[in-house]
Amino acid sequence: MSIFKTKINRHSESYQRNLELMKEKIAELEAKKKEALFQGEPKYLERTKKSGRLLARERIEMLLDQDSPFLELLPLAGWGVDGFGAGGTIVAGIGLVSGRFCMINSNIGTIKGGAIDYSTLQKGLRIGEISMENELPFINMVESAGANLPDQAKIFNYGGASFRGITRRSAAGLPTISIVFGNSTAGGAYIPGMSDYTIMVKNDAKVFLAGPPLVKMATNEVVDEESLGGAKMHSTISGVSDYLAEDEMDGIRLAREIMANIKSPKQRPLSEIKEPVYDKQEILGVVSADVRIPFDQRELIGRIVDGSEFAEFKPLYGSTLITGYAHVNGYRVGILANNGVLFSEAANKGAQFIQLCNQNNTPLLFLQNITGFMVGRKYEEEGIIKNGAKLINAVSNSSVPAITIITGASYGAGNYAMCGRAYNPRFLFTYPNSRIAVMGPDQLAGVMQTIGRAAAEKSGITYDEEQGKQMAAYMVKEAEKQSNAWYASGQLWDDGVIDPRETRNYLKMCLDVIHNAPYEGAKGFGVFRM
Ligand code: COA
Repeated sequence: MSIFKTKINRHSESYQRNLELMKEKIAELEAKKKEALFQGEPKYLERTKKSGRLLARERIEMLLDQDSPFLELLPLAGWGVDGFGAGGTIVAGIGLVSGRFCMINSNIGTIKGGAIDYSTLQKGLRIGEISMENELPFINMVESAGANLPDQAKIFNYGGASFRGITRRSAAGLPTISIVFGNSTAGGAYIPGMSDYTIMVKNDAKVFLAGPPLVKMATNEVVDEESLGGAKMHSTISGVSDYLAEDEMDGIRLAREIMANIKSPKQRPLSEIKEPVYDKQEILGVVSADVRIPFDQRELIGRIVDGSEFAEFKPLYGSTLITGYAHVNGYRVGILANNGVLFSEAANKGAQFIQLCNQNNTPLLFLQNITGFMVGRKYEEEGIIKNGAKLINAVSNSSVPAITIITGASYGAGNYAMCGRAYNPRFLFTYPNSRIAVMGPDQLAGVMQTIGRAAAEKSGITYDEEQGKQMAAYMVKEAEKQSNAWYASGQLWDDGVIDPRETRNYLKMCLDVIHNAPYEGAKGFGVFRM
């Protein structure tokens, strides 16, 4: 190959003129870029600083990996247009977060309350497009007054497109993480509402479809901002928030932690494997031998996963089902562990988490200790059937490999919802103390007695209480026999009864085996009854 030979003359008039003009242009560009660094009037900047909060660009700096580049995008969007000026009210760009390239969008809450004008909205749509084309997860740092109201007619339809973009990317396996630092009102509330992962900062996040004055006008209800849409309410009651952050830095830390768990599915297992911090011998003391006595399954998780490290998902919501990410022998797993009866919130949380694990190709580990779904009028009215059905639907259509371990009780539809035998986990092991049945033996005998009594009454016969008692005792004995671990294993309802202390070794082996064949998360689920 020959080397190209230049013909330019650096002393020529044209060369020198170009040089001069270009230097002027570059100076102009620098000035405009400087203009685009504007983050609001001093009174708003001071107010933010005084309250110990970060500005939009500082939030990005804190979010990025140390030494990560930041490719700022569209910094001059809106320049020369009637609106909020160069760059609008968001800072956008690509950088590394927990080792993975992400699209970052940070609202500038200190310009017009972070309201979105026409150019800002177009900028948001464009970065959405870029993240879709380049398969980038998206991190939204939210603090916005929503639509710039004077612009409303111009932006209404495009606003809809931005929400659509979040869910389209999610369906394509590209999650959006939203950290809500401040207001996210009206249409803006759908940003955290539609994100795959939502973090809200305590005392600062305010997320509602209508603020207190509008609620008063619409329904005459008097309610304060915190109760209507505060971070605590959304993290503990509505479930719109998955994580409650103590402060801004904690919110950023949580986003980085989430991102660390949604790395490319093609990643190799971690090279350095950390053993659990706690002694596996302690498992025998942690797991309740009597299935009627509950125990905290986190104690078990802490003794089987790498480094005892567990990134819990939605820890304050639906607390009877623990969900979260961990590694076992370097392989990432999504864990669902029962910590009580399944309520609607827990079922919905489980269904959401299974979808997330399918989105990021993460195998599931079910730790079953379940007496079933909650019963009673209140719970029926809340739709425990349809919410439980959602969890069963998610388990049925999930296509990532699953491993189930029955650590205690496995009764009723809880067995189905937690990936029992009929739901095809790749491996299913039980602990020696476990029980599997339609319901507990005492409940079963009690129900049979009640039915017998009602049938006798209907036929006008006196129910023989003594005979009923004997029958119940016999049924309890039979049910005990047919639901214990040995019987279950004999019926091939599991792949083996294991010593709980060997759980980690079994999981290591199973995960090695699972990774012999490629797998892909489900792209669609059955219709979820809402
Ligand atoms: N559109 C246009 N400008 C807006 C705006 C909006 N949606 N919301 C706030 N602003 C402007 C204010 O006019 C003010 O402008 P200025 O700096 O030129 O004086 C600036 O943003 C700051 O607003 P302010 O209300 O003083 O700030 P705050 O921190 O006390 O309150 C909000 C922030 C977001 C709570 C409050 O402004 C608000 O409730 N805004 C309306 C939110 C809304 O209902 N949006 C509808 C979305 S569809």
